[in-house]
Amino acid sequence: MKILIAYSSKSGTVAECAVKLASMFKNYIVELANLAETNPSPDEYDIVVIGASIRIGKISKIASNYIIQNEETLLKKKVAFFLCTGYPEQFDNYIENNIPQSLRSASFALGNFGGSIDKTRFHGIEKLIVRIMRNSINNAEESDDAIENVAIPAIIPENINRFVNEIKGKLT
Ligand SMILES: Cc1cc2nc3c(=O)[nH]c(=O)nc-3n(C[C@H](O)[C@H](O)[C@H](O)COP(=O)(O)O)c2cc1C
Repeated sequence: MKILIAYSSKSGTVAECAVKLASMFKNYIVELANLAETNPSPDEYDIVVIGASIRIGKISKIASNYIIQNEETLLKKKVAFFLCTGYPEQFDNYIENNIPQSLRSASFALGNFGGSIDKTRFHGIEKLIVRIMRNSINNAEESDDAIENVAIPAIIPENINRFVNEIKGKLT
């Protein structure tokens, strides 16, 4: 069984999750593919996991192009998706708006991994966008201090574990 974990990560959270996932399948051939650097054909794998993060409601162009370009092949595979987001409660909307319906239905797992906003990773305009995003979703004013010491979001380990188990269920 060959597993492809193809991911797109802007500031490292999805990449960390992808590496963690890969480490859970030591007895299998697992290829980790950063879609910003490589464009693997899903055809060569039995299980294809695609991970991306949400920015302003959308996954990256790199991730969406990969999904769209490979849609037909992915429909013939055991396919699963995971997202890193600041607002996991919006997960269903993000999936609906970013993953084609055909693949949503065909997927055996949809992982809602949560996310992280590490203030050291964001600068200038990104920090501003995070503030606007938080305000628009929460519909509330926030102080600079709140942005500096962002309490949410967080990675949700139990969702990662469930996702791993769903993949393991496809390996037997
Ligand atoms: C500029 C920017 C925009 C974001 N927009 C959203 C958003 O619309 N919805 C959301 O749930 N999270 C949003 N986030 C949070 C990211 O999804 C979260 O930080 C995620 O962990 C990033 O993963 P990555 O580092 O792998 O790209 C945004 C983060 C940044 C920096």
